[in-house]
Amino acid sequence: MHTTLAFDIYGTLIDPYAIATTLEKHVGGNAALFAQVWRDKQLEYSFRRGLMGVYKNFSVCTRHALDYTCQHIGVVIPALSKQELMDQYRLLPAYPDVQSALEKLKLAGLRMYAFSNGLPDDLEHLLGQACVNTYLMDIVSVHDVQSFKPDPAVYAYFLEQAKASEADTWLVSSNPFDIIGAGAAGWNTAWLQRDQKTVFDPWEFKPTVIVKDLSELPNIVLA
Ligand code: LAC
Repeated sequence: MHTTLAFDIYGTLIDPYAIATTLEKHVGGNAALFAQVWRDKQLEYSFRRGLMGVYKNFSVCTRHALDYTCQHIGVVIPALSKQELMDQYRLLPAYPDVQSALEKLKLAGLRMYAFSNGLPDDLEHLLGQACVNTYLMDIVSVHDVQSFKPDPAVYAYFLEQAKASEADTWLVSSNPFDIIGAGAAGWNTAWLQRDQKTVFDPWEFKPTVIVKDLSELPNIVLA
């Protein structure tokens, strides 16, 4: 049996809210709020596009969500600065617990993958500059399926790509909707509760384990 770990990227290994630092020069004290609305809308657009079957890639969802957020907050950001923000989205940092946890898991021989809504090229760039790619066997993007998490088709696609089975696969994600999607597909799931205030949706699908920090993961999956 080979245990396979599929790591979600945005919000799990890579911090999308770090964009607030760049946003400060455009929206001042509204930067954290802007970053939250932008992220929520980006995900909402991916859900809606998946449901409607009108796929546009995740970068388009991010860009449309940026335009929405400007209008919602009531701020005008020039086109060039919007492009800078989109470029910055490919330079987001890894969370501080990522390197050491992934190093331990890799030394233990686990098969680790990135599994994300993001475009393959964006993910490669993002994970390369954050020095996370060396731990991963591969990057699996939903792009080939032309749909988004939590469409069951993308979880099936991951298993196909990783040549893995549900029973031996873990999704590690901070996003409850992603954990529920993988749980419904029969995977093991580790919900990374990065923010203690995040509420897990009270559905019938519960995470297999809850961790507060990635450093807790090696002991759990290697047990
Ligand atoms: C991802 C989104 C869910 O990385 O954040 O797939």
